[in-house]
Order: sequence, then structure tokens, then C-alpha cells
Amino acid sequence: MAINIIAAIGKNNELGKDNQLIWKIPEDLKFFKQKTMGYDIIMGRKTFESLPKLLNGRKHIVLTRNPEIIPEVVVYDNIEELIKKYEKKECFVIGGESIYRQFLKYAKKIYLTQIAAECNDADTYFPNLNEEDFIKTILDENYDDKLNIKYSHILYKRR
Ligand SMILES: NC(=O)c1ccc[n+]([C@@H]2O[C@H](COP(=O)([O-])OP(=O)(O)OC[C@H]3O[C@@H](n4cnc5c(N)ncnc54)[C@H](OP(=O)(O)O)[C@@H]3O)[C@@H](O)[C@H]2O)c1
Repeated sequence: MAINIIAAIGKNNELGKDNQLIWKIPEDLKFFKQKTMGYDIIMGRKTFESLPKLLNGRKHIVLTRNPEIIPEVVVYDNIEELIKKYEKKECFVIGGESIYRQFLKYAKKIYLTQIAAECNDADTYFPNLNEEDFIKTILDENYDDKLNIKYSHILYKRR
């Protein structure tokens, strides 16, 4: 299985609000780009709609139950076919909440940006991880001085 997950979350697992990211940390967006470049990226229809543009160098796979609405990407209307397709091929699941929840149990690696901030009116959340299932490595610890926010990159590798 070569399904990987990447997400940026707040202290309470906050993911998004009004179909947008809550925090946009330029160095973290670079981390996202560096990790996902060249791979197929799987996302829900709402996350796809939240992107400012197509992300270069990555094949966009979009889950929707109304496939006719997105002509410029590859669409799937169920996750089962995708699970089979990516048994051997590496890919990244890039959100949002509903997609993370469905793919979590299949993920081999999870890259989490843990942002030391909270958002009381977030409307989407990353699911809780069972830490016993993973080996946790802190990749780095950072500070964005413009946003005045600390954040870390953590890798969870399935045991
Ligand atoms: N912080 C982060 O790292 C991060 C990353 C990504 C997204 N986000 C945020 O997360 C939020 C969006 O999350 P969300 O949960 O609301 O939406 P989402 O997961 O992006 O998309 C949900 C949509 O995906 C489709 N879908 C879901 N499961 C499916 C299945 N099994 N088969 C076929 N289609 C399926 C449906 O589309 P249809 O309605 O078209 O059928 C559903 O409405 C936004 O705020 C976004 O900014 C944050």
C-alpha cells in the first residue's frame, strides 16, 4: 500500500473554515509542494474547488459523486477503485476532512504540519490518530515571524 496523507492542522486538529485553509504559512506551502511534487494527489471535490489553480507537476484525482462537473481532472466516484489502483503506486491524499477520514486506515505515511494555533470557528477537522499504530518522528520545528506562529513537521509511519 503506498497511500500517503499530508495535512496541516491546528492544536485541535482544525483543518479549514468556509472551504479555505485557516493558516497559510509560505514555508509550509513549500514543504507541501516538495513532498507531493511528481505524485498523483487525491482530494475531495470541495478541496479541489478551494485551490486557486491546478498544482503543477501533479496529477489531480478528484472524488465526487457528480463526475460530469470537473472536466480538467481525473474524477472518481468511489474510493474502492482508488485503493486498488494505489496499492503499489505512491500517491498523496491531500484532503479535506471527509477524504482524510476515509483514507486514514490505508495510509502508510502521514505528514502532519502541527501549527501551534487555534481557530474557534473552524468547520473541518483532521481525524484523531491512534498513535500506537505509528512511529512518530519530528522532522523539524519552525517559526513564522510574520504570522508569529510556531509549527512543526511530523512524520507518522505506520508500524
Ligand atoms: N489544512 C489542510 O491541510 C487542508 C487540506 C485540504 C483541505 N482542507 C480544508 O478542508 C475543507 C474541505 O473539507 P471537506 O471535508 O468539507 O470537503 P472535501 O473532503 O474536500 O470534499 C468533500 C466532497 O468529496 C466528495 N466525496 C467524498 N467522499 C466521496 C466518496 N467516497 N466518493 C465520491 N465522492 C466523495 C463529495 O463531492 P460531491 O459533493 O461533489 O459529490 C464531497 O462533497 C476546506 O476548508 C479545505 O480548505 C485543509
